[in-house]
Amino acid sequence: MTLDDGATGIGADRRRWSADRDLCDGQTEVVDASDRSIRLAASLLQAGHIVGIPTETVYGLAADAANPDAVARVFAAKRRPSDHPLIVHLGEAASLSNWARRIPPQASRLADAFWPGPLTLVLDRHPSVLDAVTGGQDTVALRMPAHPVAQQLLRVFGGGLAAPSANIFGRVSPTTAHDVCAALGGAVGLVVDGGPCEVGVESTIVALEGEEVAILRPGGVSPEAIAAVLGRRARAATLGAMRAPGMLASHYAPATVLDLCSSDDARARAAELISTGMRVGVLSLARIDVSGAAVAWDAGGEMAVFARSLYQRLRQADDEGLDVLVVALPPDAGLGTAIRDRLRRAAHRPQMSGKGERKR
Ligand code: TXA
Ligand code: MG
Repeated sequence: MTLDDGATGIGADRRRWSADRDLCDGQTEVVDASDRSIRLAASLLQAGHIVGIPTETVYGLAADAANPDAVARVFAAKRRPSDHPLIVHLGEAASLSNWARRIPPQASRLADAFWPGPLTLVLDRHPSVLDAVTGGQDTVALRMPAHPVAQQLLRVFGGGLAAPSANIFGRVSPTTAHDVCAALGGAVGLVVDGGPCEVGVESTIVALEGEEVAILRPGGVSPEAIAAVLGRRARAATLGAMRAPGMLASHYAPATVLDLCSSDDARARAAELISTGMRVGVLSLARIDVSGAAVAWDAGGEMAVFARSLYQRLRQADDEGLDVLVVALPPDAGLGTAIRDRLRRAAHRPQMSGKGERKR
């Protein structure tokens, strides 16, 4: 494809977007990833627009991390509280020192082992990092995504991209370009479609302070893999610790009520709910047959498939109009740790008292 500045190339694409608006006639345009669409996305980002982008974990809502107005647009589109910090996505590990004041040896070891990939490092921020990105904290979260489209975009863009998951704050993260449109349609002008996300759950967030290593959010890199690199288990941070204000108990929530149980209990639990007249779905790692279930989804025993399809299943549960989705929790190991974490947050309903409240 020609990348010219004439009537048909990037120049024409670009002219359809005004320099000071995020919306293109209030419409969200989804474009297949190509050299041309990536150039368009980079040029919009350089002009301070926000763009939906694929990563290997979930889709992100990207903005120039060095432009406070662009970052403010991300918070507005997501309806996200402003003290809730963003992850900065980098095209190469070499640029880490532009963003972090100090890079402890353990951080270098983890970056060497897992970048590009689903690992975020929380490090002491470089003085030049915007407060809007860090939520005013002394630290900054950094990651180098593995998705080839994200990588190419970062190369063409040439700086850091602040990108939270491209969903309304507190809701299920998007794993397809279509999900981004459904969640943020109209609030983001362009979404680059890079296909469904491979990993399906967000990056693992690791904080490093001196010798102390803590996992603030389990994710696409397992605690076991991190321990293998560091030579010891990282501490799991306590829920709600200020270091990770994103770790709210109620997060990643679908409208459908989730009933979490062990795989041994799932069949009996689902049968009991079905007998009360409820429309019940079942989600499990390996197949569980329940007569009368509206849907029974399983991951064929593959944890990676469970992670990859998890958010899609939570969305489908809403689409199916289920009263309850009974979920057999996978083992707490490998990606199972992240899956259990997300399910626990999705199931947390402090004010929930019954069926009548399920559609929020
Ligand atoms: O896989 C991912 O990490 C995806 C993709 C798009 O890269 N991004 C993502 O971003 O999940 P978001 O904003 O939905 O979640 C980022 C989390 C939040 O919980 C936030 O509080 C935490 O990272 N975070 C960001 N900066 C931090 C910091 N300096 N210290 C502690 N936690 C931080
Ligand atoms: Mg998120």
